[in-house]
Amino acid sequence: MKVLIVGSGGREHAIAWKVAKSSKVDKIYCAPGNAGIAEIAECVDIGAMEFDKLVAFAKEKAIDLTIIGMDDPLVGGVVDEFEKAGLRVFGPRKNAAILEGSKAFSKDLMKKYNIPTAAYETFDSAEEAMKYLETSKYPIVLKADGLALGKGVLICNTKEEAMDGVKTLMLDKQFGQAGNTIVVEEFMTGREVSVLSFVDGNTIKIMTSAQDHKRAKDGDKGLNTGGMGTFSPSPFYTKEVDEFCKKYIYQASVDAMKAEGREFKGIIFFGLMLTEDGPKVLEYNARFGDPETQVVLPRMKNDIVDVFEACIDGTLDKIDLQFEDNAAVCVVLASDGYPVSYEKGFEIKGLDNFKDKDSYFVFHAGTKLSDGKIVTNGGRVLGVTATGKDLKEARANAYEATKWIDFDNKYMRNDIGKAIDEA
Ligand code: AMP
Ligand code: GLY
Repeated sequence: MKVLIVGSGGREHAIAWKVAKSSKVDKIYCAPGNAGIAEIAECVDIGAMEFDKLVAFAKEKAIDLTIIGMDDPLVGGVVDEFEKAGLRVFGPRKNAAILEGSKAFSKDLMKKYNIPTAAYETFDSAEEAMKYLETSKYPIVLKADGLALGKGVLICNTKEEAMDGVKTLMLDKQFGQAGNTIVVEEFMTGREVSVLSFVDGNTIKIMTSAQDHKRAKDGDKGLNTGGMGTFSPSPFYTKEVDEFCKKYIYQASVDAMKAEGREFKGIIFFGLMLTEDGPKVLEYNARFGDPETQVVLPRMKNDIVDVFEACIDGTLDKIDLQFEDNAAVCVVLASDGYPVSYEKGFEIKGLDNFKDKDSYFVFHAGTKLSDGKIVTNGGRVLGVTATGKDLKEARANAYEATKWIDFDNKYMRNDIGKAIDEA
């Protein structure tokens, strides 16, 4: 089989690594990919939003399966374009990717189908939003309706912050059209868990749980980022939590999409908060998480290509999804200054230390090949992942492995997985 993966982050590297393990796969292409992906796939210089070029490439190379890693092309309808051309593709169509593409849509869906989530109101006028915020309880959360690189969520502690937030999102349009509509949401507290799942339109199969670390600095301080590290499984995702979510959240979400005429095939990523009143959905994503994927896929036992195909064919009920009884931790090595501004182009040394090691992985995010050397090319540069018999061992292994890598302005959090000690 020939497989094409669309995307260029650590997530896509982890997907490519897992696809490469499939006995069915002879050749992997990645558009546009990065320097790490280039070691296992042929990278092609086509951007993830260049749908016509992607479709033409897939036809020309007779690609058997295309996997879309990123949210933007999914929300933009890339799957519809591939299907129109008669190509096999893994991911939700545009009318289903709206589950991630519009927070107002997802909140209305949860409300209509009684799926537990924070109370909210939706506004498409700044004036109305500000009027509502005059008498709200604080803290409160403002969310841009559309995609905003994970930065469209503002936690406002005071009325003044909230008014500024409305201005930023709706009047100054910091995130463009994404802020035409905003969701104003009740502030919740509790531990966060990321749960990824495969969905074939009807059946949903849950992967092992993970926890992300979204803030830039130790102690969950600093700005929100795409994610600075993850661990899996989450010790807080107990059997009771799992049972609750299976009863009220997972299948209910798939059924709700079907009932709306928006059959969902692909990955649903449930961002959950474990509140005092039970688990609630913070958000849905319509794709694998980054860096959740870097700790989930190394623990997955199945041939992932079988699972992708079962999702497309509607036969996921036949798949017995299995994960190793171990743990994994991923520490992101970033460029100092991320997520605001940072320098690029520094040589990365020590990558060879990961060769031929079964329980250590280095997934590339922002890297590129320049004059025969691998150099930094983004905010999040690498995801150093290690497995272990339990979370503590995996964490020790991952931090040990971060020392094997060196580049100028290397920055990481030193407390990834600290919550493990509180479990
Ligand atoms: P989202 O992109 O919706 O997951 O939001 C990004 C982050 O903002 C989440 O991971 C939470 O840490 C935080 N957040 C979002 N919604 C709420 C909420 N209703 N209450 C408290 N924190 C929230
Ligand atoms: N790590 C969070 C995300 O992928 O959205």
